[in-house]
Amino acid sequence: MKRTYTILLCLCFFALQNATAQDAKMKTHIDGLLKKMTVGEKIGQLNLVVSGWVPTGTTVSQDTEEKITSGKVGGMFGYYDPVRMKAIQQIAVEKSRLKIPLFFGLDVIHGHRTIFPIPLGMSATWDMALVEKSARIAAQEATAEGLNWTFSPMVDIARDPRWGRISEGGGEDPYLGSQIARALVHGYQGDDLSKNNSLMACVKHYALYGGAEAGRDYNTVDMSRSSMYNYYLPPYKAAVEAGVGSVMTSFNVVDEVPATANRWLMTDLLRNQWGFKGFVVTDYTAINEMTSHGLGDLQTVSALALKAGVDMDMVGEGFLTTLKKSLDEKKITMADIDLACRRILEAKWKMGLFDDPYRRLDPSRPAKEIMTPENRKAAREIASHSFVLLKNDNQILPLAKAGKTVAFVGPFADNHRDMLGTWVIGGEWEKSVSVMEGVKNVAPQLATLFAKGSNITDDTAFIHRLNFFGQKMVTLDAISPETLLRNALETAARADAIVAVLGESQSMSGESSSRTDIGIPDSQRKLLEELVKTGKPVVLVLFTGRPLTLEWEQQHCAAILNVWAPGTEAGNAIADVLFGDVNPSGKLTATFPRSVGQIPLYYNHKPTGRPYNGSYQTKFSSNYLDSPNEELYPFGYGIGYSPFVYEEMKLSSAKLSGNGSLTASIKVSNTGKYAGEEVVQLYIGDPVASISRPVKELKGFQKIILKAGESKLVTFNITTNDLKFYDNSLKYDWEAGEFRISIGGNSRDVKVGTVVWEKNLKP
Ligand code: NOJ
Repeated sequence: MKRTYTILLCLCFFALQNATAQDAKMKTHIDGLLKKMTVGEKIGQLNLVVSGWVPTGTTVSQDTEEKITSGKVGGMFGYYDPVRMKAIQQIAVEKSRLKIPLFFGLDVIHGHRTIFPIPLGMSATWDMALVEKSARIAAQEATAEGLNWTFSPMVDIARDPRWGRISEGGGEDPYLGSQIARALVHGYQGDDLSKNNSLMACVKHYALYGGAEAGRDYNTVDMSRSSMYNYYLPPYKAAVEAGVGSVMTSFNVVDEVPATANRWLMTDLLRNQWGFKGFVVTDYTAINEMTSHGLGDLQTVSALALKAGVDMDMVGEGFLTTLKKSLDEKKITMADIDLACRRILEAKWKMGLFDDPYRRLDPSRPAKEIMTPENRKAAREIASHSFVLLKNDNQILPLAKAGKTVAFVGPFADNHRDMLGTWVIGGEWEKSVSVMEGVKNVAPQLATLFAKGSNITDDTAFIHRLNFFGQKMVTLDAISPETLLRNALETAARADAIVAVLGESQSMSGESSSRTDIGIPDSQRKLLEELVKTGKPVVLVLFTGRPLTLEWEQQHCAAILNVWAPGTEAGNAIADVLFGDVNPSGKLTATFPRSVGQIPLYYNHKPTGRPYNGSYQTKFSSNYLDSPNEELYPFGYGIGYSPFVYEEMKLSSAKLSGNGSLTASIKVSNTGKYAGEEVVQLYIGDPVASISRPVKELKGFQKIILKAGESKLVTFNITTNDLKFYDNSLKYDWEAGEFRISIGGNSRDVKVGTVVWEKNLKP
């Protein structure tokens, strides 16, 4: 034991010594470089240009190769073609005066070529090993195609499903969101940034982007400091603690100051308090946009951004075109520019680019490493674990693989494009597996029928907005809606059961894709209503990038399987679950409201002074005249093919003091006939404190596997760390008193116990 300890100590010592030696080497190199660089070359390193891919703004970079030659570019994003990128890197390291290599970035968000479920779906796995695995594979594929930097993870907490970008994050909870942030950073960056399969991560959008008012993208944000600290900031902080290499600013204001010029956010909090050591990049033209925010002309806002702690300017070239002037006019200092430049150069050093600028530019890699059978297998496994079964009356699912005739109806049933979801730059939808193909693969004996039934939407104005990338993402069928419907009903008449494959298309969620009506589009809803009228059981397989309003569907469909946008292996994964090869185990990470009028609706809300207590008509309490307060499906919700029964919870003590710890245990039994996975969730409520605290907050979860008929005792260890929160003076501590401990399979249906935790219990 003593010997092991000594060996460990020695190893730590040598690792530390090695790291210090590496740091010293890096410093010497960069000091030397900075001495040689002109002001223009230093400012050039702060410039990020876009080339090759569709931009997410109205400005695009011009004359990029010329600029690289003259040392005016630090990084480029948009390409994922190692041959082309190698040629571009050659310009930087052979033609530019100081031969500084470039960063090559891209939005690799949920897979690069092999596409995994959209992040909101990925979060529904509640499985950090799978989340990390998806990022590792993405990094492997992305680096094989020349990339060294991804603009991911996006960890913005979102409580408003109208916001299209809720699809890109991990939902509404800071605890789960923090775990996901860590897993993704580890997955992308690996254990050594300089390896040729390590991709530098960029946590975004710092900060509070998900708080956009009214769910309208790019809208303003207004939030108390304690809400920021308690609910919105933890996932960014977790990414920093996990060693994320870069941070992207958000478009919105934080405390009335745009994030991109917010020195408190970028320097005081991020660097001084959290200890972030990497570099900060803006979002797309976020510096320029500060002029519209009302902060001044381009020179003023560029200087503000640099002073605030921003190091790299994405596309807008405010830094490139104005910083020299600001320096001459003494609005910024040489030290400000040096600091930003040093951070960029350090990141390049850590990525191993000075050692070998071509280390991720090996054109022979893609053929061996892209979309391998193993990667596709992982995509299938992860997707099937992200699906959330919302309803399953009379155990209609799983379907038998033979014996009956099943009609698959809807615009997503025989569809490849919409399998992938938002942000799939490298993803090729032609290579995705459709639902019909998956069904054929998994249940070849089954008698199947297919009918499209409806357009994704009949609304031409909506279609016009959805197709803004210039692609025909959503189209009207040449056959009229009436004929599509008639054909579908004729098909349904010949079937024993109907699977309606409906929902949102790829471009209905994601950036700049906010919606005020978050139901299934009318054309498809009409189809569903007609299918239900046939009296045959209807299973709804739902594609969506956000929580939808599904009250009618909940009342009328026999089963609802929410599959998000599952990625490349969509059809196979869906068939695995529909036919019972995989028992669905996903759990929602964002609340599904009944109506848009209830939004924002989230499980960790605060109590009101006039809580509504039962009767729908109660006057003068917090409720609606025309709707229940409750959500349709709560955070954490999702069922499987077997029921999991929770017995009463046992707490190890009813009273504790100081730094003691408590265990909460519960027996969970699989009382059905299918083996399955269950996410057992621990919530804590703090009913009396110096500030009003949420009714409950997620503080732990365990994913367990139970065979049919099997039981397990699940135990959580709770310490005072789980009770801590930021008060109004931003002191992070716990306060003595009573705590409500709840455990359950979702945030609503829980077993509850109480414990009194004193600072110092009297004997
Ligand atoms: C704008 C988006 O907000 C951001 O998430 C993305 O990384 C950049 N565009 C680059 O594409």
